[in-house]
Amino acid sequence: MKAIYPGSFDPLTLGHMDIIKRASKFADELLIGVLNNSSKSNPMFTPMERVELIREALVDLPNVSVKSFDGLLVDFVKQEGASIVIRGLRAFTDFEYELTMSQTNNKLYPDMDTVFFTTNIEYSYLSSTTVREVAWNGGDITGFVPENIAKAVYEKVKK
Ligand code: PNS
Repeated sequence: MKAIYPGSFDPLTLGHMDIIKRASKFADELLIGVLNNSSKSNPMFTPMERVELIREALVDLPNVSVKSFDGLLVDFVKQEGASIVIRGLRAFTDFEYELTMSQTNNKLYPDMDTVFFTTNIEYSYLSSTTVREVAWNGGDITGFVPENIAKAVYEKVKK
């Protein structure tokens, strides 16, 4: 079974990594889909930079690959021949957005289902937004992201 884990990943956090490791045992093949045309303003990394950084962070997981995508998630899922979308649920506050997204996607493409992984409690407070904010304000992000990503974030902040 091929699954897709989509997101903005700006940047990938240890919470995302935890979901990826667990989902890579659940799916035969796991594709990380980095959204290319995010409406979110002020991205820290370009989609191509994110793809490269995620690839570096995931070298030890042979059944996981990374690509960027444009447009609708359901079209990417169809194009890639996947049937499952993976999403992480951190807290109750994520639920409404995730439910709506899952139901919309299911309406657009009924052959696709969303599987939710509850985030490890160790990372339930963590988000890419928090990482960017801590980094822009000179804080220590080494406990929040993989090592290669912490390095890249510090380089961005220095610039
Ligand atoms: O990491 P994020 O920003 O929470 O990920 C959101 C993402 C990329 C999964 C979502 O915005 C998405 O799938 N965008 C593609 C456009 C789309 O298909 N929209 C309809 C679903 S409501």
